[in-house]
Amino acid sequence: MTGDATRAVHGPERRVVAQEPLVPPVYRTSTFVLDSAQQTADVFAGKESGWTYSRTDNPTSQAFADAVAYLEDPSGVAVGQPFGSGMGAITCTLLALCSTGSHVVAPREVYGGTWTLLTRQLSRFGIETSFVDMTDVQAVADAVRPETAVLWGEVLANPSMTVSDLPGLAQVARDAGISFVVDATFASPVVCRPLEHGVDLVVHSATKYLGGHADATGGVVVGPTALVERVRTVRVDTGSMLAPDEAALLTRGLATLPLRVTRQCTTAAVVARALAEDPRVARVDHPSLPSHRDHALATRLFAPGLFGAVVTVSPRGGREAGMAMIDRLQLVKRATSLGGTTSKAVHVPTTTHVAMDAATLAAAGILPGAVRVSIGLEDAEDLIADLLQALGAE
Ligand SMILES: Cc1ncc(COP(=O)(O)O)c(C=O)c1O
Repeated sequence: MTGDATRAVHGPERRVVAQEPLVPPVYRTSTFVLDSAQQTADVFAGKESGWTYSRTDNPTSQAFADAVAYLEDPSGVAVGQPFGSGMGAITCTLLALCSTGSHVVAPREVYGGTWTLLTRQLSRFGIETSFVDMTDVQAVADAVRPETAVLWGEVLANPSMTVSDLPGLAQVARDAGISFVVDATFASPVVCRPLEHGVDLVVHSATKYLGGHADATGGVVVGPTALVERVRTVRVDTGSMLAPDEAALLTRGLATLPLRVTRQCTTAAVVARALAEDPRVARVDHPSLPSHRDHALATRLFAPGLFGAVVTVSPRGGREAGMAMIDRLQLVKRATSLGGTTSKAVHVPTTTHVAMDAATLAAAGILPGAVRVSIGLEDAEDLIADLLQALGAE
């Protein structure tokens, strides 16, 4: 008979559940029990498959990445790896592909976190980045140098919803013998599957559409085994793993991804049209609009009728008008991020793009009043009514 403390710690003999649970169990454990010293050695050496430690690999976290890979590549060839955040995925990807002296070509409009990573952190290790106009494929080709290791792209840019010419950019990367990595966060695999257009690696902030409920943070990298394994190694070494509880929430989100994103994109197109017709609005950025510079490209690359679910509306009256619009919102939440069930809005120049001065904003085509709206699952009529009233008196 063992003592109370030992019984409390170890419990009775565990029931082994051989039956398949409908919902995958959450492996909320930091480590795994192995059968023998030899098996432990073999699993650590990679000679035998098995789980050792959850910073390295965890079944719940891996199941999430496998599920995303299956959405990105229905043929089942691509593999996925999970990360603790989108930035974790981006950092590990860039560290895997670059060394001191490497050069990166990235979009002028790249997501702020990626921009900061490249300019504030990786630059300290001798990794230099050229930020270019990604809509100009020739300019991208001209920016490539002998030491360029990565062409970084985004399927849909923030906040302009500019669409990347993925096949054209993939050709540039192939000609130069460099990796083409795309951040597909704003699109999700429901709107676009970049691997089908020649992209080498796809990264996502799973915090957005993949999870879809604004209650979990995560990231994922998807692509061919050899490349993804290199990124995984950096994750293991730097500790940017997705926790199993977060993974379970994100996996639950995936089940409704096509339903949510289809609905959000449809609503976004209706909202964009209504706002574009209003005389108080200087410009609406959404690729569903024939007036958007990339309407034709999006129609070619994206799933039929889907153009993303972020709408950027720039009221006439500049910065004050944009901030006043944010203050008048009643239904749409004043919050950053995107992809959740609740619609959210931010004034771009004072939040997501606050690091840019007026000239840089102008060069990037961002108007001083720009308000980025992430469309949620509410009724389109209610969103339109809120956004129109938030524009205020003419
Ligand atoms: C396009 C894009 N990529 C990456 C990220 C970073 O993701 P996370 O916040 O999960 O680290 C974000 C976050 O807003 C994003 O919008």
